Amino acid sequence: MLTIGVDIGGTKIAAGVVDENGRVHEHMLRPTPADDVDRVADTIADMVHELRRGREIEAVGLGAAGFVDETRSVVRFAPNLAWREEPLQKRVADVVGLPVVVENDANATAWAEARFGAGRGQSHMVCVTVGTGIGGGLVFDGALYRGRWGMGAELGHMQVVPGGRLCGCGNLGCWEQYASGNALVVEAREIAAADPDRARVLLGLAGGTIEGEEITEAARQGDEAALAAFESLAGWLAQGMADLSAVLDPGCYVIGGGVSRAADLFVDRVREVYVSVLTGRGHRPTAEIRLAELGAEAGLVGAADLARKR
Ligand code: BGC
Ligand code: NA
Ligand code: ZN
Repeated sequence: MLTIGVDIGGTKIAAGVVDENGRVHEHMLRPTPADDVDRVADTIADMVHELRRGREIEAVGLGAAGFVDETRSVVRFAPNLAWREEPLQKRVADVVGLPVVVENDANATAWAEARFGAGRGQSHMVCVTVGTGIGGGLVFDGALYRGRWGMGAELGHMQVVPGGRLCGCGNLGCWEQYASGNALVVEAREIAAADPDRARVLLGLAGGTIEGEEITEAARQGDEAALAAFESLAGWLAQGMADLSAVLDPGCYVIGGGVSRAADLFVDRVREVYVSVLTGRGHRPTAEIRLAELGAEAGLVGAADLARKR
């Protein structure tokens, strides 16, 4: 039986028809109407409508970048989007007339990687998605861990720097302000402003405001500021993961999200720092640190699969 999965990100909405083996049959992308929540539900409904044509669809799974309630219906809060107590399930279900479930986007990605990707066969997997923010997903013994009220695994909002950078969630010093795609940009801009000589390639490529892709490109060309930004990202990621190991003791981490496309620029360093700061190191097995395998489709594949198992 086929289901439709939708991954709602800060900039784009990806939707696809997915079968029980996690294969995507058809797929489409639309820009996210970022400031108008009503139009988000309408856009999703349009996409579902198009993907449904000529197919029998059992259910729809929505992956949303925010805190989803335990009934998997309401996005109660989204640090990087305009959703507050947003009844997303109802809005979409009313229009498409199919069963709809809402899941946190990183939970959906973790689920997809655990079932069909880098986490296959792992009994204790932690997925960290590095994108605009940091998302988390925990899959233990084949089950997604959601916490008491559906809001578990918000790894990006662990406070790593007391009084640190302001986060979209309203707190200061959250992990996602130091180890996400946004953090990479903040870091690179700071280094380039303080010491433009180290950022010659980067500033040349950016020609104005520095953005994420330019940092990756500049790092590949050996730009010192860009490399330092990746070094910082790697260090913060590794420290956060080591802290997670102190609590959760997973056998495997899967790093996903948009920034993981540039993983060749930081993942070795993450592994190195991780083993050097891990508590009890030398007296415990070291978790494997793997890269996600399903790429940009992971979120929609996971949302679709979770809708099938609703
Ligand atoms: C949100 C999470 C989301 C993550 C990745 C965080 O800021 O709090 O709910 O999973 O970003 O999109
Ligand atoms: Na999550
Ligand atoms: Zn936060």
